[in-house]
Amino acid sequence: MKLQLYVPDGRYQPWIDGFAEALPEAQCLTWEDSRNEQVDYAVVWRPPLEMLRGRTDLKAVFNLGAGVDGILSLRDTDPDALPAGVPIVRLDDAGMAAQMIDYVTHAVLRYFRRLDEYALAQQAGTWRFLKPHRRADFTVGVMGVGTLGAQIAQALAGFGFPVRGWSRTARDIEGVQGFAGEAGQAPFLDGLRVLVNVLPLTPETENILDAGLLGKLAKGAYLVNVARGPHLVEQDLLAAVQSGQVAGATLDVFRTEPLPAGHPFWAEPRITITPHIAALTLREDSVAQIAAKIRALGAGQPIAGVVDLQRGY
Ligand code: NAP
Ligand code: GLV
Repeated sequence: MKLQLYVPDGRYQPWIDGFAEALPEAQCLTWEDSRNEQVDYAVVWRPPLEMLRGRTDLKAVFNLGAGVDGILSLRDTDPDALPAGVPIVRLDDAGMAAQMIDYVTHAVLRYFRRLDEYALAQQAGTWRFLKPHRRADFTVGVMGVGTLGAQIAQALAGFGFPVRGWSRTARDIEGVQGFAGEAGQAPFLDGLRVLVNVLPLTPETENILDAGLLGKLAKGAYLVNVARGPHLVEQDLLAAVQSGQVAGATLDVFRTEPLPAGHPFWAEPRITITPHIAALTLREDSVAQIAAKIRALGAGQPIAGVVDLQRGY
């Protein structure tokens, strides 16, 4: 059995070593060294257009991340960019949910306990008491309550916040008030003090975080975006922060990454920036998950995480 790997940073050896251990029956080849070979599986992160187009040898394409926009968006350049009938398989959690929980709960608690404001007071040498927020009034909404969002929502509920979740289809998550579809969006957003975005990037969700949506949150609400940069209309967030409609934001993802020098977000003290690290792909967990799925496919068993190409996630 042959695997063909593509990672944009070209750091192949740790992946090759990982698959050699987890799947010793497979030969692991880099895309660059095996362009003309017939292989069984591709394992990729943001592959180049020429890697998948027209392929007839592949049994499946494994994505080294949860979001598959880096593969599906190849169709914007060429409608036949993806190999016909070949399943695209995303990572299911693979150690990402725990990281997302750390990141999002930290951001929410920092805002809830007004810690950024105390940090500013410290910089000014000021001993200043700020009125605490009331937990019972502090409703947090999670957009996208799939593999990662559902666990984030439950972790936030564990801190005693009223938590709402929004999804495309109705979801029943213990301790989380569920809203679904377009009709559920307005009641989901109404009065939220914090909005957390964990949606996949699809044609339906691109630019979803715009002035209209931000205007439906409670005045002075907080935004946490850990999904994808193109969900957010960046100018609309800046305007909402400047008007006070949004108190601030923690952003892990951006339309252009790395965030360019001189981007206005760098100079906005109410916006906290991290470089797309909310949930990293953990090599050991990911290799183990992909190896188990390859073995299941070999045994004719169904696997989780197969992407619906029409839906886009
Ligand atoms: P997932 O399991 O596929 O969950 C997606 C959720 O979004 C589901 O609840 C789905 O609804 C909902 N959804 C999709 N389209 C919608 C729409 N049009 N309206 C309302 N709800 C919609 O995905 P996941 O594994 O949780 O990952 C989510 C995203 O997180 C990834 O796609 C990726 O972009 C991002 N991510 C970021 C990082 C980072 O480091 N920043 C790391 C990992 C992942 P249904 O439940 O009805 O299907
Ligand atoms: C990271 O952003 C992922 O989608 O896994």
